[in-house]
Amino acid sequence: MYTGIPFAFALGVCVSATPTTSTNGKSHHLTVVNPHITSPSQEDVSFVNSTHVVTWDTSTIPPENKDDTGLLLLGYLENGSENLDMNPLASDFLLVNGQVPVFVPIVPARPNYIVVLFGDSGNASPMFAIKH
Ligand SMILES: *[C@@H]1O[C@H](CO)[C@@H](O)[C@H](O)[C@H]1NC(C)=O
Ligand SMILES: *[C@@H]1O[C@H](CO)[C@@H](O)[C@H](O)[C@H]1NC(C)=O
Repeated sequence: MYTGIPFAFALGVCVSATPTTSTNGKSHHLTVVNPHITSPSQEDVSFVNSTHVVTWDTSTIPPENKDDTGLLLLGYLENGSENLDMNPLASDFLLVNGQVPVFVPIVPARPNYIVVLFGDSGNASPMFAIKH
């Protein structure tokens, strides 16, 4: 069972840090892996108490990061905050796999859910609805 506590500190750092990968010149000292989530998309409606496959684009993952693992969190956008649930939907999966099946827990129905994929940095999906 995940307590989520070990992730809390790292997460705070990730969320507040703006990824600076490809914009402000190239850094060869630090590779930031920040895969783009392709599912869930804006049109998806996910239902609770069932399994869904979250997918992301692996084309930007450099070969030297092939062993990097990810962390996937569920949150919802409200008041400009991501309101992330610290109990991961999935963790320790390989980012190069491009997908991970997750069990969607019984959470309140909302139209503004997101999943955030953490490699070295965080990348949020478009908002999607969860219905009951
Ligand atoms: C969740 O799904 C399981 C398996 O389908 C079912 O037995 C259980 O009643 C469901 N729980 C709720 C709260 O819907
Ligand atoms: C967002 O703001 C409203 C109004 O202040 C408040 O009632 C609500 O609890 C806030 N939501 C979160 C997730 O903090």
